[in-house]
Amino acid sequence: MLDGHVTRTRTTMELFLVLVSLLFVTRCGKTTAEESAPAVINMVVREGDDAVLSCSFGSRSTELELFDWKKDGQKEVFMYDRGTHYNNNPTNQDPDFRGRVFHFAQQLDVGNASVVIRPTKVTDSGSYTCDFPFHQPSRRSHIVLVVDPVLKNRPDISGASPEPIVKILAETDKGVQVHCAVKGAFPKPVVQWKDRAGNIVPAEEPQVSERRGSYDVILQTTVTKTDYYQCVATQKEIKHRVYTETLVLVPVPGASPEPIVKILAETDKGVQVHCAVKGAFPKPVVQWKDRAGNIVPAEEPQVSERRGSYDVILQTTVTKTDYYQCVATQKEIEHRVYTETLVPVHVPGNRSGWIVVDFWRGFCLLFFWLFFWL
Ligand SMILES: *[C@@H]1O[C@H](CO)[C@@H](O)[C@H](O)[C@H]1NC(C)=O
Repeated sequence: MLDGHVTRTRTTMELFLVLVSLLFVTRCGKTTAEESAPAVINMVVREGDDAVLSCSFGSRSTELELFDWKKDGQKEVFMYDRGTHYNNNPTNQDPDFRGRVFHFAQQLDVGNASVVIRPTKVTDSGSYTCDFPFHQPSRRSHIVLVVDPVLKNRPDISGASPEPIVKILAETDKGVQVHCAVKGAFPKPVVQWKDRAGNIVPAEEPQVSERRGSYDVILQTTVTKTDYYQCVATQKEIKHRVYTETLVLVPVPGASPEPIVKILAETDKGVQVHCAVKGAFPKPVVQWKDRAGNIVPAEEPQVSERRGSYDVILQTTVTKTDYYQCVATQKEIEHRVYTETLVPVHVPGNRSGWIVVDFWRGFCLLFFWLFFWL
């Protein structure tokens, strides 16, 4: 600001010197100093925020001086006169500013006559000047203040909260952890989790962060039953409310029932056996074992999920006659259950033998029958 002031003064000086030489006027120096306009500071604040109006000249104390802030050249905003000011003696202060304008007592020492309007109103928008009427050469600071009402009137283009972003994080033994993020909202939104009936779901402490004047809020909670849940962001000040609804499935812990075992078919590799474990949560580990307890290598298990519980199908082909167990284990709930079954396996090499034997036996029977008949 000081630089601008100096430059402008210099330019005006030069202009003035030209004028002087043209018009033969002699009082250039003084006139220039007095009439040079101060640099105008433009300020924009949001309605309700503080506005610090700056007025500072060098380091000489202003404690024993008089300075006067006016709005639009007429309204008395704030006057300080050697310790007396509008907050201890509001004689001529415009009622509009009563109790809202403060100077910085500690800053007077260093020549700082700035004031703050706290809080601002839309009607504060205007042109402010700070004058030291008894100071030579005269001092003045000039500020054009705009108090932006945009947030109150047009929530759609202001910091109205966008739709919350909801994520399902993880299943824990307490339920399902859900995460809601509301980003870039101003004023600061209140964020809540609600169930479908509209009851507020107790949540963790919200994590609030501020970025360039707008707020990000993250709210996590753990829900314990299957329902539709809403993450709701409310900005009361601008009458704005927005939510995202999501279905959260909370699995009910269910011990696996006994596996259902079926003998499917005999192939030339052995006998195909099938094991089905239905409606188990947490997801069971399913294995085929022989009677000695050895794990029988099996096909890839087929896993499907239905409303939070699991169905697992495991097939294998066994190559020798034995008792086989299909075992379902749920380590998390220390549950194990099995079904045992005898699987007869005909040695593939012998099978044709059986047919041959049967064939000959039948042939002989027929032969003897015919022999005796005849
Ligand atoms: C004057 O004081 C105000 C309030 O403390 C401060 O914001 C401002 O920066 C100061 N001005 C100068 C030039 O130091």
